[in-house]
Amino acid sequence: MGNKTLCIIKPDAVRKKYIGDIIKAIIDANFEIIGLKMTKLTKEKASVFYAVHKGKPFYNDLIEYITSGPIVVLALQKENAVEEFRKLLGPTDPNEASEGTLRKKYGENKSINAVHGSDCDENAAIELSIMFEKCEMMDCCGM
Ligand code: CMP
Repeated sequence: MGNKTLCIIKPDAVRKKYIGDIIKAIIDANFEIIGLKMTKLTKEKASVFYAVHKGKPFYNDLIEYITSGPIVVLALQKENAVEEFRKLLGPTDPNEASEGTLRKKYGENKSINAVHGSDCDENAAIELSIMFEKCEMMDCCGM
């Protein structure tokens, strides 16, 4: 059981000014933020990040959407981080999400779903390494 996961506040949520509310919910749920940055993905980086979805019917729209504006990327730490964050996140489709989850509160539909969270420890490690240099995370510089 790992203790890190990757979160992305996606372009729709950034555009709607939900960054502060989402980060507050993450802190209130006792995640430690060990890395944070605002960035805009290139198509190349997005295709590396979402390589697992290549060939799926929604892939091209997914790449267009995630590169459509700035995103906020967070490295989160907590015991059993992946599973705990997925509970806070809710399912891919906000219409199926429970009250109080981030996607219920801030998502619109399966494609425009406000927040990403890694789906397993292995992918969390891969996604963190795509989004952060090691020296950009607090646990490597002794902060
Ligand atoms: P995310 O958690 O970022 O991981 C992959 C993304 O692909 C997912 O959130 C959705 O935004 C998108 N996605 C997954 N399944 C579908 C689907 N059936 N239709 C449209 N988009 C999807």
